[in-house]
Amino acid sequence: MAVVYLNGEYLPSEEAKISPDDRGFLFADGIYEATPAYGGKCFLLERHLARLANGLKQLAIDFDGYSLRDMHPQLIERNNLASETAIMVYIQVTRGVAPRGHAFPTTPIAPTVYMFAKPFSRPSTERWERGYSAITVADRRWANVDIKTVSLLPNVLAQQRAVEAQCDDVVFLRDGMVMEGSHNNIFAVFGETLVTAPASNYILHGITREYVIEMAEELGLTVQERALPVEEFMRADEVFYTGTTTEIRPTIVVDGHQIGDGKVGTITRRLSTEFITRTENLRGKNI
Ligand code: PDD
Repeated sequence: MAVVYLNGEYLPSEEAKISPDDRGFLFADGIYEATPAYGGKCFLLERHLARLANGLKQLAIDFDGYSLRDMHPQLIERNNLASETAIMVYIQVTRGVAPRGHAFPTTPIAPTVYMFAKPFSRPSTERWERGYSAITVADRRWANVDIKTVSLLPNVLAQQRAVEAQCDDVVFLRDGMVMEGSHNNIFAVFGETLVTAPASNYILHGITREYVIEMAEELGLTVQERALPVEEFMRADEVFYTGTTTEIRPTIVVDGHQIGDGKVGTITRRLSTEFITRTENLRGKNI
């Protein structure tokens, strides 16, 4: 039985109960984070906590997101996940429980804080080397998807469309420009140059995206954060996705159209190898 964290307590997941009057349930009035840990050690946790803190501020939820730092090792230990290769620790903070009404409750309420940890599996080398597929979907989300709110219905519907098309990922297009995936960011590779949508209010500023940009620059590659028209994207030599559970995933087909030579590209493979090496070499440290 998994042990979860709810409002200050660790308890078996089936004993974790949330009120139907929770504003997260009624209005999606809350934010979340999905943070990775490798071999039981947190990876880039401070960056995730900073994004959480920023989201709480944007939503005017009065809660110190950084206070959740210590719950990460606790959840890993209490669930015996220290030896797992890859784990996701999920955090959700909602405004709390109050009688339904759109505006914030006038008397202060305690936010609802929920966390759980579970392993995620890296694909086998053989699966990864076969490459992945995606479909384009019109991006009709609101104009603040940089805030990681739990209001994810358009992402859910888009990912379901991908599944029904027997594809792995989504390419959200806004005004003909490539934005991001349903739960991950997108890079196109042209020669030794990486192109990805700018960190505006129209994409989530992915922590993996940021880390991959830094890593690519360290490896001597050029990175451009700029608008990427879908026509140009389709002519890329390589395409890959980044994200906490996605890691670095190569895409070889979009809308049935072959990307590059239809094989996993050398730049994508180089970045992924480097990423895997770094996450396997945390050497007992949280970073
Ligand atoms: N999703 N874009 C969107 C819309 C996302 O939901 C996510 C993360 C990302 C990648 O961000 P990061 O590299 O910080 O994980 C980009 C998480 C993993 C989820 O919803 O489960």
